[in-house]
Amino acid sequence: MRRRRVTVAAGFCFSFFMGTLLNLLFIPGFDHHQQREQQQQNGVTRSLLDPSLDLQEETPGSALDLARQLRERYEEVMRYRENRASGSAAKRLVRPLERRLMDLAQWASSEHLHKEQQQRGDLANALPKSRIDLALRAPWLGCRDIGNVTDLRYLGSGYTKAVYKVVLNGSVAVALKSVDFGGHDIENCVKRFGAVEDCYRLASYKLVKEMILLQRLQHPNILQLYGYCYQDSNDISDTLTTIMELGAPLEMIQLLQTSWEDRFRICLSLVRLLHYLAHSPLGSITLLDFRPRQFVIVDGELKVTDMDDASIEEASCSRNSDCFMEFPARNFTLLCSVEGRCQNMNEKRNLYNAYRFFFTYLLPHSAPSSLRPMLDVIVNATGELRWGIDETFAQLERVLYLYKSGLYLQNASHAHKAEYRRVPDTSIVEENYKCWPSYHHKGCLLSVFDLREAIEVCESHSQCKAFVWTNQTTWTGRQLVFFKMDSSRVVPAPDKITYVKVTG
Ligand SMILES: Nc1ncnc2c1ncn2[C@@H]1O[C@H](COP(=O)(O)OP(=O)(O)O)[C@@H](O)[C@H]1O
Ligand SMILES: [Mg+2]
Repeated sequence: MRRRRVTVAAGFCFSFFMGTLLNLLFIPGFDHHQQREQQQQNGVTRSLLDPSLDLQEETPGSALDLARQLRERYEEVMRYRENRASGSAAKRLVRPLERRLMDLAQWASSEHLHKEQQQRGDLANALPKSRIDLALRAPWLGCRDIGNVTDLRYLGSGYTKAVYKVVLNGSVAVALKSVDFGGHDIENCVKRFGAVEDCYRLASYKLVKEMILLQRLQHPNILQLYGYCYQDSNDISDTLTTIMELGAPLEMIQLLQTSWEDRFRICLSLVRLLHYLAHSPLGSITLLDFRPRQFVIVDGELKVTDMDDASIEEASCSRNSDCFMEFPARNFTLLCSVEGRCQNMNEKRNLYNAYRFFFTYLLPHSAPSSLRPMLDVIVNATGELRWGIDETFAQLERVLYLYKSGLYLQNASHAHKAEYRRVPDTSIVEENYKCWPSYHHKGCLLSVFDLREAIEVCESHSQCKAFVWTNQTTWTGRQLVFFKMDSSRVVPAPDKITYVKVTG
């Protein structure tokens, strides 16, 4: 009876935890977009408007309103384009896209976009009709490369875009991103304005913005842009497809089941990314939509894919209370600088989001016990925003150093009870038992720093009677070791070493 009550209570706690987790991970995205739409509907973004537009005649849902949004979005793209990165490499990369944008600029500054036509609501005529060919040069991929793809597979979609995996030339797998005609963004826009082509254009500027950012920001934790293609589709001219590095959509539930070492890698990648974003060539960049689904995994590393909600504007202020940051569980008021900017707001928003979506779930849980106090300090300091990104970055790199160098083991002083006999070039194939979190779903495969740590692990598992030193290492260079429950069937295996427990 008592056991049943305990089981029910444990079940309840588990569902509460999962419920909270799912809420945290998935719901805020809708808040974000709804909030943005709300802001636009409330006219909060009107400060960005071109004064030449006659606001008096603009009503939500009108052609003028759509024209205003198109123009705002277009101007934002131009701001990102014009904020030049230093260095000839960045300039070289940007060139083909700039040409495209220059064509768009001609369109925007032409007579067509101006008042008279907008008031007629005849926006379609203001959009570029002709296709503009771009000189795509190596190493850029273009329309030719994606004309004949194989193994097309849907990967995912968000509010605006849909992403597919394809194989080019029967060999290289890449991701193709385009505006999702069936997505919420287009759907809501068409419901409101009834103009598919203009709504497409509005959404595609997000993709253009993302493309500019992906090529101007070069970092191992930002997905590589390989190229792009403009082509007519769905009766719309010049629809855009971007070609980018392929990743695997991030599954938080799966990540929670992996080893601490792999979860630490995700947090470290994230902190390295945020450190770069805080000091980027474009200024300090914040990711306004920070949910885990904006990131993908490539070879165990976290990389950001969704950049259309990135922003470089630091909020302006006249007093501290203007620098208010609101999160579901906590609020912060940052300092207003003498220059009238909220100090480090972009960096701190990123950092708190990293804390609430990643660190709390991934960092401390099942970490080596000697690293746990340091990790707790990192989690607490970021959760209270006591540290900036530079300090957080330095602390995580320090944890990596302690882990990789084996220094974290120094205080472990378990006296070994058993002796182990070394049998070179052998292995034990069966005799698996399960342990957690194992690198192998059927057996107990764990990473260790050295033989001493492998013995300690074996001593701590009651089933362990032997272990096999494999020829594989993890991303930190640690050795992968298979722990086994019986040592009677040792077989030849080059490059492996079996250690058999002989006493104790
Ligand atoms: N390069 C990629 N490789 C694999 N999956 C990706 C890639 N880029 C995006 N995705 C998946 O597609 C989804 C939608 O892409 P995203 O750019 O976030 O679109 P949206 O702006 O609509 O949110 C992402 O949540 C992610 O799971
Ligand atoms: Mg997204």
